[in-house]
Amino acid sequence: MADLASLKRIAGRRAAELAESGMTLGLGTGSTAYFAIERIAERLKEEKDFTVRAVSTSFSTTLLCHQMGIPLLSVGSVDRLDLAIDGADEIDPARNLVKGRGAAQLIEKIVARMADRFVVVADETKKVDVLGASMPVPIEVHPNALSSLMRQVKELTGAERVEVRMAGKSKDGPVISDSGNMIVDAWISDIRKPAEMAALLDSLPGCIGHGIFAGYCSRVFLATERGLVEF
Ligand code: A5P
Repeated sequence: MADLASLKRIAGRRAAELAESGMTLGLGTGSTAYFAIERIAERLKEEKDFTVRAVSTSFSTTLLCHQMGIPLLSVGSVDRLDLAIDGADEIDPARNLVKGRGAAQLIEKIVARMADRFVVVADETKKVDVLGASMPVPIEVHPNALSSLMRQVKELTGAERVEVRMAGKSKDGPVISDSGNMIVDAWISDIRKPAEMAALLDSLPGCIGHGIFAGYCSRVFLATERGLVEF
């Protein structure tokens, strides 16, 4: 059985081939997007007439781009992208997503919406029949809304658990997002109407962003044991 990193690499590198010279790209966050970024950096070195510029979805990806020599623009200065490539935590058959394991979902969604094409790269463990099967929905929350938003999410979505994401060993206290907010993980299972759930979360005061991407993704490259599947 191929290891997951090999599958992620296949999906990431395949998506990087969609980049054409002169494009402005959105570069996602996580271990699968990493391989797309790495391949784009290779192409910048290998292909004489290949030039691209990019926006980054996180501090993590910004650091990677600096190390790899990919020229960056600030996200806020760009209003349209040719192509964005990112990973996902769950993907349903209609290409709706849950994202945000790495707490980057706010900027990831801004970038995805700017792109003419938003391509998701993943290994086959990310495919689910219905969103909410394996992951909580991450919600980025203004600190002053923390308790009231958590109560409303519990009452309105039927979430089994709603928890502040804690940093663990690397920092005492909660995870603070790249935009300075807290992250709440809502264990909402069986999300059969992702667009409706997304709209509900968007309507809560203090919700700055969340990880349900309904209707954003135009193509998925899913690396499986049997080969690369596109849908
Ligand atoms: C970052 O916050 C997430 O949305 C990632 O894009 C997602 O978790 C995918 O990451 P992996 O490719 O590492 O699984």
